[in-house]
Amino acid sequence: MEMAKRPENMARINTPELAQAFIDEQIAAVREQVGDKKVLLALSGGVDSSVVAALLIKAIGKQLISVHVNHGLMRKGESEQVIEVFRNQLDANLIYVDATDRFLNLLAGVSEPEQKRKIIGNEFINVFAEEARKEDDIAFLAQGTIYPDIIESKGVKAHHNVGGLPDDLKDKFELVEPVKLLYKDEVRVVGVQLGLPAEMVYRQPFPGPGLGVRCLGAITRDRLHALREADAILREEFDKCGLASKVWQYFIAVPDITSVGVRNDQRYEGWPAIIRAVNTVDAMTATIEEVPYAVLHKITNRITTEVEGINRVLMDLTPKPVGTIEWE
Ligand code: XMP
Repeated sequence: MEMAKRPENMARINTPELAQAFIDEQIAAVREQVGDKKVLLALSGGVDSSVVAALLIKAIGKQLISVHVNHGLMRKGESEQVIEVFRNQLDANLIYVDATDRFLNLLAGVSEPEQKRKIIGNEFINVFAEEARKEDDIAFLAQGTIYPDIIESKGVKAHHNVGGLPDDLKDKFELVEPVKLLYKDEVRVVGVQLGLPAEMVYRQPFPGPGLGVRCLGAITRDRLHALREADAILREEFDKCGLASKVWQYFIAVPDITSVGVRNDQRYEGWPAIIRAVNTVDAMTATIEEVPYAVLHKITNRITTEVEGINRVLMDLTPKPVGTIEWE
């Protein structure tokens, strides 16, 4: 792939006017590139692919076919939001594939983190390729590549990239990457200007393998469910007390160990829910947010009373280094 370079005199997009100018320019460029052909996009619901989808819907409407693969490892409500925003509000040509069972069946009994990542990445490509083969005359593949992906090329998005597609499909498609010269903050300004909801545009980073890297060890459906519910409570409480807009990334991890507890005067074995709340600029190093004890007590109380299977709540105070942000 030819290496795109941001022109040195390109202004940082930080106002609605600059965002609109960028959008108008890209709409024209995409129409010119695509003509009357169809474009396929893997829409994860993350900031970058969502902004690309909204931009392409403006440019080419139903010629864009967005595919949202629910791998069963999404946070609570995320796939529902993708459907609501893109299908119901923006009238997108959206294919929703609930592949939960396929992923969880393949992951059953697999505890090694790299192996889990590989299974999730490969299966994602399989599902996406299957959908791609069902559609006739698709000539383009759109991607939410942004400038840091190009300059850092750390490969974190590898499993969303065309690189992973089987050769017969890879050779068929030309790439459409309308935000590839933008930094993350600019993508967000463009997303707001396109009318995407704030919670979608300002959402915290979420790894491609999703809750799969936070449901530690071999994933089971009951523990995954507990993790998703506990994570939703954490997000709700961070929203209420204003931490959601202040903390860079916050989530729950649930290891595959249990301890003894008591609930309703009965012995109650359960998993611990581990809270991680970190601040960082570039995710290379991270510090710990000082969450007020009152908030921690409230979260602990809600999780241990509302979530089946969790009987303790712990707080991870480890900065990066030495801990990574995710537990894996
Ligand atoms: P670590 O755990 O390495 O994480 O300190 C650094 C940041 O990267 C995110 N992360 C991912 N993002 N695909 C992504 O798009 C992935 O596979 C992936 N794995 C980790 C992590 O959430 C943190 O923000």
